[in-house]
Amino acid sequence: MATPAPDKIIYSMMRVSKFYGTKQVLKDISISYFYGAKIGVIGLNGSGKSSLLRIFAGVDTEFNGQAVLSPGYTIGMLEQEPHLDESKTVRQIVEEGVAEIMGFLAEFNRINERFAEPLSDDEMTKLIEQQGQVQEKLDHLGAWDLDSRLDLAMDALRCPSGETPVKVLSGGEKRRVALCRLLLQKPDILLLDEPTNHLDAETVAWLEEKLQQTLHNQAEAAKIPASTPQLVKSEEERRLASFAGAIVQETVSQIEDRAAKRRTQTAPAGASP
Ligand SMILES: Nc1ncnc2c1ncn2[C@@H]1O[C@H](COP(=O)(O)OP(=O)(O)OP(=O)(O)O)[C@@H](O)[C@H]1O
Ligand SMILES: [Mg+2]
Repeated sequence: MATPAPDKIIYSMMRVSKFYGTKQVLKDISISYFYGAKIGVIGLNGSGKSSLLRIFAGVDTEFNGQAVLSPGYTIGMLEQEPHLDESKTVRQIVEEGVAEIMGFLAEFNRINERFAEPLSDDEMTKLIEQQGQVQEKLDHLGAWDLDSRLDLAMDALRCPSGETPVKVLSGGEKRRVALCRLLLQKPDILLLDEPTNHLDAETVAWLEEKLQQTLHNQAEAAKIPASTPQLVKSEEERRLASFAGAIVQETVSQIEDRAAKRRTQTAPAGASP
């Protein structure tokens, strides 16, 4: 994770448009955001929220215009419908969130196994040096309590037990596992596309609290939950939610219009609007 820099713009999008075939879903979107910004994207079904987030995440590179992420910053995204490798278990998916540490641990084990082989003095010296370097990286990454960290994260998100095959998971369980993997990655920019879909009320409350904490300690940068009114509560957040230019602004006003209409329709006869 990069060093927190609250006054630094870390992402800019200039005049981005997106077409699927001849159908245009995003038109001339321009936005920049600061490290630590918390942004919501509100829009009707099919208005282009997921398409926008996939461009932010760098998952979709087929668009017109420019998008620039400051060097050294990382982005992680929870997809609206996460695709998990069905041949894996829950634990293996969660471990993908700490792939860097897992890689160094595997290297550390390979080095240790080589000590059992016959080695010249020179080879032994080199191997000890290599072991020291990898150990230093593992110390730095806090790898030695990795198992308990993963257990804690899986418990917090009430993931199914580690050996459960991904292919038998329900929609909500898949989301928990994908979210657990994502939070362990600790990306600088956390993109959540409809994060509360399929999640029960208790987990939604936990997620809100977790996002509040990470926002306050600036551990992560921009948090962009798409279309989750629970997570976009305050006036300020609502204003931020309309950041994405014409398309999103339009849908925000449409939502307000619809809400006003509903209020009028449901108001008892004779009541003032
Ligand atoms: N791969 C694709 N090929 C063709 N059309 C697509 C593709 N992906 C999305 N679309 C269309 O683009 C539009 C925007 O889709 P998108 O998924 O971005 O909307 P959304 O705002 O996230 O909707 P929702 O609230 O339902 O999640 C929709 O009309 C959708 O049918
Ligand atoms: Mg969507």
